[in-house]
Amino acid sequence: MYTQGLDAPDPERAVAATAAGAGPEARFQERVDAEEKIEPKDWMPEGYRQTLIRQISQHAHSEIVGMLPEGNWITRAPSLLRKTILIAKVQDEGGHGAYLYSAAETLGVSREELIEQLLSGKAKYSSIFNYPTPTWADVGAVGWLVDGAAIMNQIPLCRCSYGPYARAMVRVCREESFHQRQGYEIMLRLAKGTAGQRQMAQDALDRWWWPSLMMFGPSDTDSKHSAQSMRWKIKRFSNDELRQKFVDFTVPQADYLGLKVPDPELRWDEAASGYRFGAIDWTEFNDILKGHGPCNRERLEARRKAHAEGAWVREAALAYAAKHRPTAERAA
Ligand code: 3HC
Repeated sequence: MYTQGLDAPDPERAVAATAAGAGPEARFQERVDAEEKIEPKDWMPEGYRQTLIRQISQHAHSEIVGMLPEGNWITRAPSLLRKTILIAKVQDEGGHGAYLYSAAETLGVSREELIEQLLSGKAKYSSIFNYPTPTWADVGAVGWLVDGAAIMNQIPLCRCSYGPYARAMVRVCREESFHQRQGYEIMLRLAKGTAGQRQMAQDALDRWWWPSLMMFGPSDTDSKHSAQSMRWKIKRFSNDELRQKFVDFTVPQADYLGLKVPDPELRWDEAASGYRFGAIDWTEFNDILKGHGPCNRERLEARRKAHAEGAWVREAALAYAAKHRPTAERAA
């Protein structure tokens, strides 16, 4: 376990850095550059801590709000099997939120404070969850595209320099793979079904394609955090790099479904061995970030209602914990 302060697993390096007159920031960056994991009790620049609190809490909020678009289909799933799969998936997302709030708490911020920031509208969550899911095909498109994009973004986070975040991501990514597969399987059944089902699948792809590309964040030229986050190895790839990986991976899947990606400029570029695609509507993205998306208000209202209705559960759990706290702890 690292002690508080500047100790590092390799004391010689710390001594060498001190001898070289490097300050704590330089020694910290040395550790990050050497691919060492930063743990909660290690010294870290305040900017690193604040960046992680910002990103991990937004990620956690996204997981919890992300339960809503599919959650409203649990009672309307077309079969018992689909209902059980969807319940498992939505429940997983709640668990991902719990891991991530726990990871954020290791940085000295309370879960209550983070949830208050979400419910008051101060905190961000992923833009993607502010779109409606009008048909069953949207549940398939969300699993296929949204969880597919999340996997693309979260696999590199398993190598994040901050230990608790990286470790939370390992388990999240395993479950995301199931999420993506079940969504793609829904799309496959519909795309190979009746003409009406095929049209429903195509309409859902038309609704979710561009918002899924926006999930990766603004373009690299407009991303205000990427450069520093990459120096700190919180981010391993830029927003545009991950977006490109997602497009290159997903277009062949749409082709296999016999569905058309809603981008007239999409074409394979042999020289770049990747797809060229059209311009993203950043006005739509920025409007959503300002709270003017199709479902922003509905999502926050649902979270506020759930939080209020769940107060008795939190009180009961805290009362039970207080009553059953080991005597020694109570006496202290
Ligand atoms: N939705 C909402 N806000 C976004 C956004 C999006 N899709 N993309 C970027 N932003 C915000 C950033 O938060 C930042 O605002 P802030 O300064 O107020 O926090 C601003 O736009 C500038 O963007 P940057 O690219 O500079 O910000 P980051 O370096 O933080 O990159 C990110 C954005 C790529 C989303 C990064 O934060 C990240 O990788 N986060 C972790 C993964 C995550 O949160 N994914 C969200 C979906 S979770 C999910 O899909 C669950 C699955 O189970 C379905």
